[in-house]
Amino acid sequence: MSLRLQGRTALVTGSTSNIGRAIAVAFAAQGARVVVSGRDEERGAAVVAQIRENGGRADFVRASLDGNAAASRELAAAATEVLGRVDVLVNNAGIYPPASTATTDEETFDRVYGVNVKAPFFLTQALVPAMIGTGGGVVINLGSWIARLAVGSPLYSSTKGAMETMTRAWAAEFGPQGVRVNAISPGVIASADWDDEIRRLSDRMMQGSPAGQSGNPDAIAAAAVYLASDESAFVHGTVIDVDGGRTGVAVVAGG
Ligand SMILES: NC(=O)c1ccc[n+]([C@@H]2O[C@H](COP(=O)([O-])OP(=O)(O)OC[C@H]3O[C@@H](n4cnc5c(N)ncnc54)[C@H](OP(=O)(O)O)[C@@H]3O)[C@@H](O)[C@H]2O)c1
Repeated sequence: MSLRLQGRTALVTGSTSNIGRAIAVAFAAQGARVVVSGRDEERGAAVVAQIRENGGRADFVRASLDGNAAASRELAAAATEVLGRVDVLVNNAGIYPPASTATTDEETFDRVYGVNVKAPFFLTQALVPAMIGTGGGVVINLGSWIARLAVGSPLYSSTKGAMETMTRAWAAEFGPQGVRVNAISPGVIASADWDDEIRRLSDRMMQGSPAGQSGNPDAIAAAAVYLASDESAFVHGTVIDVDGGRTGVAVVAGG
């Protein structure tokens, strides 16, 4: 049986930990050649080593994506040099500073929008023309359940709402030229690196959902493989909820 991403190349931003790492590992396991990216070279090297030990192909490209357009263009150029071309871009890197409106200063506001919205915007701008030139490609954005079910993080949730909206707008803009754009909206996804206390808190945020507890990054990676592959050839501009039912279903205790 042929692998689902055989012959494809992919750049996964923020793949030095949790969801991005799982996506990079899953893409490589399905035959894609992957560029792992982030700021932390040590964690990046560990992900690359894991992929290579499993027989996959991966390289690390360090990038600090603070929203500066030049930084996004540099990553696009470096990834293209390593891979030859980029067939799949996953805009995964994101930050979540726990700030209320009252405690959000201007620097924090600009930083969160810079990493979560501006950086993927300019990365997509830099890579999509070449995808169109080579006959097509795929862009996958990361949204969040928090974009629709408010839990009191207005700054972060608005950036994720922006990514989900851009997903539809880019699908309209680029879809007719062969580049499919979709998004995944995760529920709470616990990292293997989290300690027990954060894990308990994250499980609490999933109470009342059908899953009843936080999810595993592999669940997001499985959706990303689907969206990156030809199995989703007829899927454009959609946001796939992989959230344990958090946004759509309320399980009432004893009900
Ligand atoms: N985990 C969840 O429960 C959850 C739920 C909904 C949506 N999401 C979304 O899913 C995505 C991944 O979340 P996660 O939980 O896997 O996050 P995470 O474990 O905190 O990882 C974030 C990744 O982004 C990279 N990153 C952060 N700032 C960066 C910067 N300035 N430049 C370049 N890379 C940067 C980090 O790499 P370095 O540290 O190496 O720079 C890291 O690899 C995010 O977009 C998040 O909003 C997560």
